[in-house]
Amino acid sequence: MSNEHQSVKMWSGRFREPLDAQFEQWQRSIVFDWRLLPQELAASKAHASALVAANILTKEEGAQIRSALDSIAAGHASEAGQALVRDHATAEDIHHFVELALVARVGSLGLKLHTGRSRNEQIATDLRLFVRQHIAQTIEALASWAQALVEQASNAGDAVMPSYTHMQRAEPVLVAHWLLAYVEMLLRDAGRLHDCSVRLNECPLGSGAVAGATLSLDRLIAARELGFAAPTANSIDATSDRDFALEFAQAAATLGIHISRFAEEITLFATAEFGFIDLAESFSTGSSAMPQKKNPDLTELLRGKVGRLLGAATTIATLLKGLPLAYNKDLQETQEPVFAVADTLEGMLSLLPKFTRALRFRRDRMSEAAQSGYLNAMAAATYLVHKGVPFRTAHEKIGNAVRFAIEKGVELGGLTLDELRTFGPEFAEDFSPAVTLAATLDCHDVIGGTARERVHQALAAASERIAALTQEAVHAGA
Ligand code: ARG
Repeated sequence: MSNEHQSVKMWSGRFREPLDAQFEQWQRSIVFDWRLLPQELAASKAHASALVAANILTKEEGAQIRSALDSIAAGHASEAGQALVRDHATAEDIHHFVELALVARVGSLGLKLHTGRSRNEQIATDLRLFVRQHIAQTIEALASWAQALVEQASNAGDAVMPSYTHMQRAEPVLVAHWLLAYVEMLLRDAGRLHDCSVRLNECPLGSGAVAGATLSLDRLIAARELGFAAPTANSIDATSDRDFALEFAQAAATLGIHISRFAEEITLFATAEFGFIDLAESFSTGSSAMPQKKNPDLTELLRGKVGRLLGAATTIATLLKGLPLAYNKDLQETQEPVFAVADTLEGMLSLLPKFTRALRFRRDRMSEAAQSGYLNAMAAATYLVHKGVPFRTAHEKIGNAVRFAIEKGVELGGLTLDELRTFGPEFAEDFSPAVTLAATLDCHDVIGGTARERVHQALAAASERIAALTQEAVHAGA
């Protein structure tokens, strides 16, 4: 169909000179915002509905435009179709592309769609929709990684390992307890993402370029159609706000920090020095030089890629800092870091569940490490506390006993009662059973502690909380 009524640009009326060709190419965002096609089409359909209600479009025109928008969606759903958008010769951005494609289908009627709207509110809307969808996907992916951790924790049963403070062996803990620590982090990450999704769920459409639409549009129509809870309350804010992009990137950065801590621990635990974990060959690589090597490339890459998440959050924060209200072209630069966050998260989180399931713990090594090096010293001091000794004094007495045991070359359980009594008259026959591995674990009988029963309870609770996450993801996707 003809597009004779349409100028090549969306804004060329007041211009007499052409753009510098190099500048023109350089400022185009279609090369990356082609990804927003589904969001742009959905928002355009919603705007068409509002225009029908405002009698700017007839019902028939509205229906014609909406079905043309659907046909654009169908025509560009495949990879080849997407490439046609990305490589479009003249479209300045995704908004321009849709207008050109619409006019190509319905002629000058297509030009009516831009009535009462501005690209400033469109990009604000599209990006919100994109972030909302990716938050929902990320929460779902987090639930599946958390589930893999819970499965490993449940398979680990009563297997033990040392916990560390200052990277020195501290106290024995259940392997399940250690795994569940990561589940806690992921649940907080999901909570942060969920909060961001609730906050962003307002519709900018109807905000116009900055001051509000110049038609009296019923903003509830578009908001409802797009699954937003309400229209945004202030047009200046709505067109200049990218808090949702920043929050998404910052929540992703925090999640990334957690991923990097996990990756670091797995990398360490897979060394010969620790020997706690056997890496699955399917997730490891060899060395072209050293035939014996099995390298933990996956965890190393995770650790490295997290840099992109921190970088994206910093980029968006830097873009927004000191930016005057309302729309400024700088805001176009917030898109690529958002895409980078979405892609980086998707890649990492799609691998983490299966990688986690494939981890093989060397229980013998972990258990041996948990039972050597006086990791029951706290439990021993607690034994004395139960005999009425103040903790400070108990600490001192056990410290002396440890020193003696080191010199004798035994663990605390290897000291005779007579030897122990040289450090205090409170030591009795019941000392040995109080410092066994089981007793050392079970004396941490508090909510959140590593006592076996507490960990069993925590495991069940974690499963329930993860199941609730999936519900949240559905809600966030709205
Ligand atoms: N491509 C632009 C962006 O991403 C769309 C908004 C353009 N608005 C304008 N006033 N030039 O920010």
